[in-house]
Amino acid sequence: MIAKQFQDRVVAPSLLAADFSRLREEVTRAIHSGADWLHLDVMDGHFVDNISFGPAVIQAVHETNDVFLDVHLMISRPDHYLPRFVAAGADLITVHVEAEHEVGETLRRIREAGCQAGLALNPATPLEAALPYLGEIDLLLCMTVVPGFGGQAFMSEMLPKIEAAAAERARRGLGFHIEVDGGIDAGTAALCAKAGANVLVAGSSTFRAADMAEAVRAIREA
Ligand code: DX5
Ligand code: ZN
Repeated sequence: MIAKQFQDRVVAPSLLAADFSRLREEVTRAIHSGADWLHLDVMDGHFVDNISFGPAVIQAVHETNDVFLDVHLMISRPDHYLPRFVAAGADLITVHVEAEHEVGETLRRIREAGCQAGLALNPATPLEAALPYLGEIDLLLCMTVVPGFGGQAFMSEMLPKIEAAAAERARRGLGFHIEVDGGIDAGTAALCAKAGANVLVAGSSTFRAADMAEAVRAIREA
């Protein structure tokens, strides 16, 4: 029987938009606001034009609570650094199809390590690049901004890619989540959910909201 986990709506606040000087309180605030997962954006200054944080910060988050850690690796060599993110406590590790690695091999190693495996597509990358791997993943991430920075505008031209991914999933009887990341708020979440996405990453619209719990609820119910 095929897992139908993709039918559950998941809201994943992105820690990139948190106040880094108060990391423990910010994680607690996200959990108390109803976050299902915590999204952790790792950037190496090479694959994307920004540097964020690495395994040590993820391990610190892991040691303070039990929230599901959704680790998004925007790094050139995810295969090389993979064991460190497993050891840090990641529950799901997403790697980019555009990075420099044997994609199928990296996905296999993520699962062998006991984590769920995600595959990410930049806006410019067509769904076709992910087709060979759809049977090997737990999550497909369709970026809805060019990765690197929070607070960018949602690219509505990504909606057909999400629809095509959902259609291909149905055609092949698969059960992976479809995640969207970038410019997600209650309004754009509704568009993405209608297109077939169920995991909604939101940084600015949650951590920077006047009422984070209300923002998370609005995205979940969008
Ligand atoms: C973008 C990151 C996102 C980012 C989203 O490169 O992958 O996860 O934190 O931020 P918002 O929700 O502010 O667009
Ligand atoms: Zn992300």
